[in-house]
Amino acid sequence: MTGPLLRMDGVGRHYRSGGWLSRATVTKAVDGVDLTLAAGETLGIVGESGSGKSTLGRLAAGIEMPSAGTVAFDDAPYAPIDSTAWRRQRRRVQVIFQNPSQAVDPRLPIVTQICGAMAAHRIDPGAGRAGRAETMLERVGLGGLGSRYPHQLSGGQLQRAVIARALALGPEFIVCDEAVSALDVSVQAQILNLLQDLQAEFGLAFLFISHDLGVVRHVSHRIAVMQRGRLVEDGPAHAVFDRPQHPYTQQLIAALPAASPAARRARETARPAAA
Ligand SMILES: Nc1ncnc2c1ncn2[C@@H]1O[C@H](COP(=O)(O)OP(=O)(O)O)[C@@H](O)[C@H]1O
Ligand SMILES: [Mg+2]
Repeated sequence: MTGPLLRMDGVGRHYRSGGWLSRATVTKAVDGVDLTLAAGETLGIVGESGSGKSTLGRLAAGIEMPSAGTVAFDDAPYAPIDSTAWRRQRRRVQVIFQNPSQAVDPRLPIVTQICGAMAAHRIDPGAGRAGRAETMLERVGLGGLGSRYPHQLSGGQLQRAVIARALALGPEFIVCDEAVSALDVSVQAQILNLLQDLQAEFGLAFLFISHDLGVVRHVSHRIAVMQRGRLVEDGPAHAVFDRPQHPYTQQLIAALPAASPAARRARETARPAAA
């Protein structure tokens, strides 16, 4: 790899709707986005609901194709969706969504699902899988709980299980799309700390998407601010937070629930990014 791990140049994603009885409209969910992400780095993406964050995350993960521009992972464009090359790339790039209960199979014990993910990617054939699954479960704080079913775990534990399943594949890049947004504030802080520890240990790169600038600030080396599909500001996390240049960023910061003790505690308990 010579360039950054992920590179987006002039990326757009346009959705067409209507067009028969109603007039066709085009939504530019993502519009003219340029960004790079280095190995081992966390880029935070903030913006209000509907600003295009999730669409950007799907494009960055290669699970959706751009309508304009190019997305390159490890110096090569993502392979066409569902191709053999694309399935190989899936192992290297994982996505963690807001609601872990939708990301797991309610009928299977956690460890079975982790082994299943490894089997799908032909990792550690045979008996090695169960051992690797248990190692990953221990690593996320769920040691000995692999035989549990999803309904026997709390929301935070279930998100840890989803993280363990992703880790078991040995990814280099994880897109976290509102990954802690559904969790209680104290649990949020624990998961954020876990993600930072895993980054240090495995050299993971994160695209960390959240509508909550307070959450993003503490895990991100750099932050990009999204408004109506465009990146309106980006820079080192502390600079964006302490000296916001764009009026929209200033608004987001002003809207932070500083008055809420719970939100403040979450920000204070989460450890700042190392950079
Ligand atoms: N699959 C889709 N089809 C049509 N419109 C979509 C689709 N996905 C997202 N959009 C639209 O694109 C815009 C950005 O959505 P999204 O990326 O989900 O934003 P965010 O994650 O910031 O809330 C919204 O107007 C949304 O309605
Ligand atoms: Mg979203």
